[in-house]
Amino acid sequence: MDGGRRVLSNVIHSQVELHREFGGVVPELAARDHLERLPHLLDLALEKAGVQPSDIDLLAVTRGPGLVGCLLVGAGVGAGLATAWAKPLTGVNHLWGHIYAAMLTRPDLEPPLLGLVISGAHSDLVRMPEHGRFEVMGRTRDDAAGEAFDKAARMLGLGYPGGPALDRLARTGDARRQPLPKPSLPGLEFSFSGLKTALLYRLRDLGEEAGEQEKADLAAAFERSVVESLLEKLDKCLPTRGEVARRAGGGKQLEVVICGGVAANTLLRRRAAEVVADRARLTMPPLELCTDNAAMIAAAGFYGGTNQSATVDPSLGWD
Ligand code: KG4
Ligand code: ZN
Repeated sequence: MDGGRRVLSNVIHSQVELHREFGGVVPELAARDHLERLPHLLDLALEKAGVQPSDIDLLAVTRGPGLVGCLLVGAGVGAGLATAWAKPLTGVNHLWGHIYAAMLTRPDLEPPLLGLVISGAHSDLVRMPEHGRFEVMGRTRDDAAGEAFDKAARMLGLGYPGGPALDRLARTGDARRQPLPKPSLPGLEFSFSGLKTALLYRLRDLGEEAGEQEKADLAAAFERSVVESLLEKLDKCLPTRGEVARRAGGGKQLEVVICGGVAANTLLRRRAAEVVADRARLTMPPLELCTDNAAMIAAAGFYGGTNQSATVDPSLGWD
């Protein structure tokens, strides 16, 4: 990165092929592959950016939340480079990284903002009053949205990676033909495990009758329930149209960011734009910046990281 906004190179080695035969991420294999791939990826990143190690001012590495083996490899390589190149190293919160991905998309985007961070392990509604400060307003009581998509995809026989496969299948289905309940908790909390069970029972009831079209309809219904439930809570945090009209001309427009792997979902992107409409300015990173990537971690590192320590903490929250 050049500063906190300009990406010079953002290289990714996808592990999709490595994990496919197991139907999900195998933590041990993931960590080993990080170790094998990182040195080459670093060379490639420097080459593509056209910079030398001596040009670098700051190194940033994810300290959590995440898979401990992968985090350890990253932190180890980061600490090694910091020593070898005599550069400072900062530890970055993975979830902050997702929010900063939105800033790479929109150069004038600044806090305060409202964020919906939806990934494989999190579904969090947060307020970001200023750089480096986050207040959780709501989160999931059980499964995260991405985890729900991955499990539903497995039930539908779609294999790994589940979220994108379910997204594709849902495009050929009709949610109205196999309606599923929309999870609805009071306040700003999410819950997706009941919906998952509803899908399981529906598939069991359909038995042999669950053909390709029924599965596509179920994928569409499942997707609709997750998306509408996510957006219902976001909606509660937005000003009404009347409030927006009254405030017109006075003060800055509310900034809303939707990010994390699930923000790549087709229906979510369309419905989010409709729900937010002119009540706030909505920023969703492009698909390649929604799912995990290095640029978002570098951007968050530029704006202060989590603190100056790169100590691994796999279960880190927003602090
Ligand atoms: O943020 P991310 O890349 O990794 C984590 O930090 O977890 O998010 C990955 C999650 C997975 O659960 C994946 O199935 C989901 O994002 N995902 C999607 C789509 N693309 C990725 N879910 C629904 N529709 C998609 N198009
Ligand atoms: Zn992530």
